[in-house]
Amino acid sequence: AKRWQHTSARPALNSVTPDDIAHFAQFLPQNAILSTLSPVSVAPAEIEQYNSDWMGKYRGKSTTVLRPHTTEQVSKILKWCHERRIGVVPQGGNTGLVGGSVPIEDELILSLGNMSKVRSFDPVSGALVADAGCILEALTEHIATHDHIMPLDLGAKGSCQIGGNVSTNAGGLRLLRYGSLHGSVLGLEVVLPDGTILDNLSTLRKDNTGYDLKQLFIGAEGTLGVVTGVSILTSAAPRAVNNVILALPRFENVLPLFKSTRRHLSEILSAFEFIDRTAYELAVKHGQGKGLTNEESEGAECFVLLETSGGSKEHDEEKLNALLETLLESDPPLINTGVLSQSPTQFASLWRLREGVTEAVSKEGKAYKYDISIPLASFKDVVDATKEQLRKKGLLHENAVKHVLGYGHVGDGNLHLNIVAAAYTQEIEAALEPFVYELVSSYKGSISAEHGIGAMKTHAIHYSKSAVAVDVMKRIKHLFDPHGIMNPGKVLE
Ligand code: FAD
Ligand code: MLT
Ligand code: ZN
Repeated sequence: AKRWQHTSARPALNSVTPDDIAHFAQFLPQNAILSTLSPVSVAPAEIEQYNSDWMGKYRGKSTTVLRPHTTEQVSKILKWCHERRIGVVPQGGNTGLVGGSVPIEDELILSLGNMSKVRSFDPVSGALVADAGCILEALTEHIATHDHIMPLDLGAKGSCQIGGNVSTNAGGLRLLRYGSLHGSVLGLEVVLPDGTILDNLSTLRKDNTGYDLKQLFIGAEGTLGVVTGVSILTSAAPRAVNNVILALPRFENVLPLFKSTRRHLSEILSAFEFIDRTAYELAVKHGQGKGLTNEESEGAECFVLLETSGGSKEHDEEKLNALLETLLESDPPLINTGVLSQSPTQFASLWRLREGVTEAVSKEGKAYKYDISIPLASFKDVVDATKEQLRKKGLLHENAVKHVLGYGHVGDGNLHLNIVAAAYTQEIEAALEPFVYELVSSYKGSISAEHGIGAMKTHAIHYSKSAVAVDVMKRIKHLFDPHGIMNPGKVLE
């Protein structure tokens, strides 16, 4: 993991002391303070999980985790940290993949896990207002009882929090249909770095009264304040959902397949996800769902998972079957085979195959994850070029890099290029960076499509943003957080 050093450009920050803990104890209940410092002094093992990220790639050295229950408590914590110049890392479900959710040094960790109440739901407009610490899956279950669905879904749903989703501007598996959080978030409640509470928790669809401040916090990765409440537009649950897995003989077929799918399925298409052969095999190897039989998958270079969400099962199935026939009858056929799920269990199992790639990769080894936006036609070239680069450097073998794979959200032009290694080493990182960033830049792509910059890519932001844009970001950061206490060393160097 990269280490961040104090520079003259960044104000120096102070460590948490026992006096600070005594101060927090005046307004926080005992169960909201986890610290290795007196007067509470828990064992370091108790805060280990907050210092380590999901991949086991980044590790902080924090002594103190605060788990407030209310917005007012968050406000008091930040006011104190602002005055005392203590760095603060907001933490949601800690499922982020760019090292943004754990400290770089010994910043205080502010965990939102105790703020997990649904505040309101309006079944007419679909507006849901919830504490930032609500787990995405819990919200999905809550509104399912009102026949509604969340506008986003991702493999980390069982742990990630809505505040973390908003702060990373998470994309996920439904963006194709329901759009980005920049469209579906209606309002936010944010505690600014000096403790001021900015209550922008609107439930209005339309509100053109000046600057749209909430947009600044969507994707800010905790560098501008702490999101404590989220108002989000949810949709009526579709009457029918179907999914189908397609095995493709060659990658080049993905583009015409996507075109044909959009034409045939139009408004009912709700996901178009891609996994290459290596990703498929890893998912199967690590027990992530069942898709095709060996015969069915044989000879396929890659796979596509399609989902439809519509008003009538028969009507949607008819459309899907017509699509499958067209694909099989084209000359040469665009697909080898397609399997339509026949039950809710099969439906879930097909999704598991796609969503489970992340977990499969982490079981297989240590992953270097590049989450990039590039033209769809270049997905395979980028995977192949990366493989070739590692081969040239003599790193493509069991003891160094085991696999190079690609999967992701084809419908959104977002490829997840993963390099699975036996261990994280400087040699592998040096072979990959800036190689991958330069490659992405040559396609005029983005080095972060949906995961964010975190600690991983601060030095690389210029591959996707101009110097002027970075300078404006720095000025905004300074305006909100003049002492630089919020998530130091993340997003901006
Ligand atoms: P954390 O990891 O805790 O934090 C992420 C960032 O947000 C950090 O910078 C943190 O400081 C900040 N933050 C968290 N909460 C707050 C808050 N309340 N206020 C201010 N800042 C805050 N991402 C996608 O975009 N699409 C996917 O499909 C996807 N799938 C995933 C699948 C798996 C299995 C895993 C492990 C991760 C996946 N991710 C995906 C990445 C990750 O889940 C998302 O980035 C998610 O939105 C992070 O939410 P979290 O609550 O875990 O946030
Ligand atoms: C996904 O699409 O599966 C997620 O973004 C997680 C990952 O990149 O592994
Ligand atoms: Zn993704």
